[in-house]
Amino acid sequence: MEYKIGMIGCGTVGRGLMEILLAKGPALKEGLGFEARVVAVTDKLKGSLVVPEGIDLKKILAVLEKGLTLDAYPGGKNPQSGALLPLEMIETCGADIIAEMTYTDIKTGEPASGYIEKALRSGKHVVTSNKGPAALHYHALKKLAEQNDRAFRIEGTVMSGTPVFGLFECGLAGNEVREIRGILNGTTNFILTKMEEDGMEYAEALKLAQKLGYAEADPTADVEGFDALAKVVILSNVLLGASLKPSDLKPEGISRIARADVLQAKKEGFRYKLIGFTRRGPAGVEAGVAPQKIPLSDPLAGIMGAHNALTFDTDLMGKVTISGPGAGKTETGFSILSDMLAIHRRHGR
Ligand SMILES: NC(=O)c1ccc[n+]([C@@H]2O[C@H](COP(=O)([O-])OP(=O)(O)OC[C@H]3O[C@@H](n4cnc5c(N)ncnc54)[C@H](OP(=O)(O)O)[C@@H]3O)[C@@H](O)[C@H]2O)c1
Repeated sequence: MEYKIGMIGCGTVGRGLMEILLAKGPALKEGLGFEARVVAVTDKLKGSLVVPEGIDLKKILAVLEKGLTLDAYPGGKNPQSGALLPLEMIETCGADIIAEMTYTDIKTGEPASGYIEKALRSGKHVVTSNKGPAALHYHALKKLAEQNDRAFRIEGTVMSGTPVFGLFECGLAGNEVREIRGILNGTTNFILTKMEEDGMEYAEALKLAQKLGYAEADPTADVEGFDALAKVVILSNVLLGASLKPSDLKPEGISRIARADVLQAKKEGFRYKLIGFTRRGPAGVEAGVAPQKIPLSDPLAGIMGAHNALTFDTDLMGKVTISGPGAGKTETGFSILSDMLAIHRRHGR
């Protein structure tokens, strides 16, 4: 079955998705009966492009690679695209699925939440890797999707393409989740790893993380735990049925941990990790983010570098730990594809 795709945002994740569709198109069609035709792309600075017969992904990737605007797509400026704004594009491009991959604003969720709402109201499925709408408006957007018999899917918001939400729809479906604990931020895990393995001070390890592109110039969201907290809120709301908002919780980050603390923990047979957690307590769901000294026997202690991991405590399977990438162009591009494939399985027949 063929799906017309509209993409909002063609930065790292958007380009990752295009590359995957280009490389895997024939295999996806033959193996899974899934065919994607990208009919529209819109981006804040690069403009919009609508090509109902399908955008040539090789050509559009070459345009993006050169840093050009979408007008430079061969064939000249498409009269149907022009200066179409994302909201107009969503409504008029004829897509079956909108892939929302714009920047995260964890305080307002905008403009992404507005785009998603528009897409669902105009009868399109939505997949997103954006934590803003997922952390702030998951239940409302999910309800809107259900009212319109469409899907609202967010696999990439936690651990990029490493399956988290999909896991509880398929392999672990039927389990009740009692508690989730994990390493949800690769930057901080990389810094803690460097402090322990190479004896670096926090500032030195942070500088290295910035140099290698793991940390932003302003690392606050990572090192003070806000990024992990947004993911904890999403996990709480989606898998434990809570109604938390990021502003309900105050994270504790790793910026006050010194090399001496990390080395002392090591001597005692423990390891510092920035742990995000959410669990069912007597008074409802309890959640947070804080550095914890965990024993080396804990599966989370073995997660080093920029990897992520989650341990789910479930009623039927006990503890199940998954680990994998938490970011990356291909990995997060894959999260968007995996959500599209889930739509194909559920709605495609
Ligand atoms: N990269 C990862 O590994 C990763 C992992 C998990 C989740 N995510 C999430 O996935 C989303 C995309 O990430 P990314 O790494 O691809 O970010 P990115 O490289 O910064 O790309 C974001 C894209 O969105 C466009 N954009 C920004 N505001 C827009 C608007 N108002 N309307 C239309 N387009 C707009 C930007 O356009 P301009 O460049 O023209 O401004 C840019 O092309 C983010 O929410 C991010 O948090 C990313």
